[in-house]
Amino acid sequence: MSKVTVVGAGNVGATCANVLVTQQIADEVVLLDIKEGVSEGKAMDIMQTASILNLNTRLTGVTNDYAMTEGSDVVVITSGIPRKPGMTREELIGVNAGIVKSVTDQILKHSPNAIIVCVSNPMDTMTYLIHRTSGLPKNRIIGMGGALDSARFKYFLSIALKANATEVEGIVIGGHGDTTMIPLKRYAAYRGIPASTLLPAEQLDKVAADTMVGGATLTALLGTSAWYAPGAAAAQVVAAVLHDQKKMISCSALLDGEYGEKDLCIGVPCILGRNGIEKIVEFDLNDEEKGLFAKSAEAVHKTNAALNV
Ligand code: NAI
Ligand code: 2OP
Repeated sequence: MSKVTVVGAGNVGATCANVLVTQQIADEVVLLDIKEGVSEGKAMDIMQTASILNLNTRLTGVTNDYAMTEGSDVVVITSGIPRKPGMTREELIGVNAGIVKSVTDQILKHSPNAIIVCVSNPMDTMTYLIHRTSGLPKNRIIGMGGALDSARFKYFLSIALKANATEVEGIVIGGHGDTTMIPLKRYAAYRGIPASTLLPAEQLDKVAADTMVGGATLTALLGTSAWYAPGAAAAQVVAAVLHDQKKMISCSALLDGEYGEKDLCIGVPCILGRNGIEKIVEFDLNDEEKGLFAKSAEAVHKTNAALNV
């Protein structure tokens, strides 16, 4: 029996729960929110698709009842406020730090062995906060941002290449921020063929630039931040852990010398399996990419400093 809890039944949390159920990634899913009735209502709505879609995963919605989360294998934290048009992810730190800290404390009381997937923004800093305050080993705390940013990179690449997104390779490392993420253009490929040989440099640069502001573009269009791809990306991370898939996914991980950095969580290629982050893969970055990574790390450190932990 596998059990996953999703904290926060807002746009991202409910979408993540929906993907966990419709893809039957876990046997049991609990969706928890502080707002009375919301998680119960969304869980009921999702479960009413069971006979239509022939689903066997069980989803329960609860209002702040952590006893119901008991024994979760993986917990996804999406609780907190999202960005509004014109806001950066970093501006959310004050409110979200308090929420993420209290949610983590309550989760671990009932699921001391859980692997935590942090989604709440500013995600790299919230992931670092969990590291600093929970005492969990670093492999059990995974920040979800690179999975989404890489999916957006592949989306824009697939359009530029007029290709199917599933046949395109693209990975984004660095911070999960409009100016801190690093779409690795040199590693982008279509069926193994470097994208740099298929697209003019300016077009590949535009793909990378569109990726970096991908979240802001959607926030401007929607009036709040996106949820379909974020929820699905969080579920992809859960599946890699729960099913011991050993998949390489870009995640925010605590670095201890990898990529020349330490004492921060930032996006790097990770091998995900049943033990969480089982390995950090060090790509052979060139001088320009190393410079971008160092700059990104500096910005994340700066945001972390606002935590006072
Ligand atoms: P939302 O406002 O739709 O949902 C947030 C939910 O959290 C609300 O239902 C709220 O009642 C709940 N909540 C607040 N405090 C809580 C608490 N103490 N315990 C339990 N639930 C609580 O927001 P949305 O769009 O779902 O975004 C959630 C977070 O995820 C935001 O911080 C957003 O910036 C972030 N995000 C991160 C992404 C990433 O790639 N890391 C991508 C998209 C969003
Ligand atoms: C996103 O990238 C805002 O982190 C959120 O859509």
